[in-house]
Amino acid sequence: MANVYASSVFKPGIFQSKVVFCTGGAGTICRRQTEALVSLGANAAILGRKKEVTEKAAAEIQSLRKGSKVIGISADVRDLKSLQDAVALSVKELGRIDFVICGAAGNFIADFRHLSANAFKTVVDIDLIGSFNTVKAASSELIKNKGSVIFVSATLHYYGVQFQSHVGAAKAGIDALSNALAVELGPFGVRFNCIAPGPIDGTEGLARLLPDGAREQAIKAVPLQRLGSINDIADATVFLFSDAASFITGTVSVVDGGAWQTGQMQ
Ligand code: HXC
Repeated sequence: MANVYASSVFKPGIFQSKVVFCTGGAGTICRRQTEALVSLGANAAILGRKKEVTEKAAAEIQSLRKGSKVIGISADVRDLKSLQDAVALSVKELGRIDFVICGAAGNFIADFRHLSANAFKTVVDIDLIGSFNTVKAASSELIKNKGSVIFVSATLHYYGVQFQSHVGAAKAGIDALSNALAVELGPFGVRFNCIAPGPIDGTEGLARLLPDGAREQAIKAVPLQRLGSINDIADATVFLFSDAASFITGTVSVVDGGAWQTGQMQ
């Protein structure tokens, strides 16, 4: 996995004076999304439940570009008030919010017969309700600044994937939320899109879903014959937030090398 985000495609400074607010920003995929935006000129607030981990990640991201400002905020996306406080702090420290990434997620493998109602609810609360809460809390900033939102979705719900009923249901809800908000808030100039990552190397999600020793088999199952990298997701993020995507809203960008089309994901 590449250790840094370095683009030969996108121009330095394209996100100058923009601010991104990213839940799950200390995690692997969302951290690299934030790093890409910061390296191209943005400032950022990243949110996570673990205060020390989040603040450390923020300091490390900030060190990537001289003059950037990145703050780490401890918050739980299940708690709207903690997100409202985080938005207020971000605006105080960074001046505004233009981009929102709804990336906080929870997942575990669980067969339906052993999945408790609370376990199902917990994942829906983090992934779906957490995404709603995040947009709700940031909505005035998004409308004021004609901002843009990216939800981190999945491809799990395009067909039945065993042991993932909770995550599939939550991510299907996220896609639906994104579509509805694209229509409802489009007239205010706010764009909403989903990115659906496939098998992305080095992520906790892949480590949990891929049995030991199944890596080579997983690579062969991807039409483009490789696992994705977190930079693949970062590149899609940069594109969707850039002016090059100014007429794109209500879409899902599947970044999976064609994997789900094969029907061999389970
Ligand atoms: C079955 C489980 C379980 C497991 C927890 N539960 N883990 N059930 N199998 N492995 C149940 C608990 O028993 C409990 O139900 C309920 O879920 C809530 O558990 P808590 O531990 O109290 O919840 P909480 O502390 O809020 O933790 C949330 C979590 C946890 C989602 C359960 O795993 C977490 O915090 N994860 C964050 C990190 C993470 O998941 N990263 C992966 C993201 S990857 P009962 O009935 O006992 O009360 C990703 C990719 C998805 O999302 C797409 C893949 C392609």
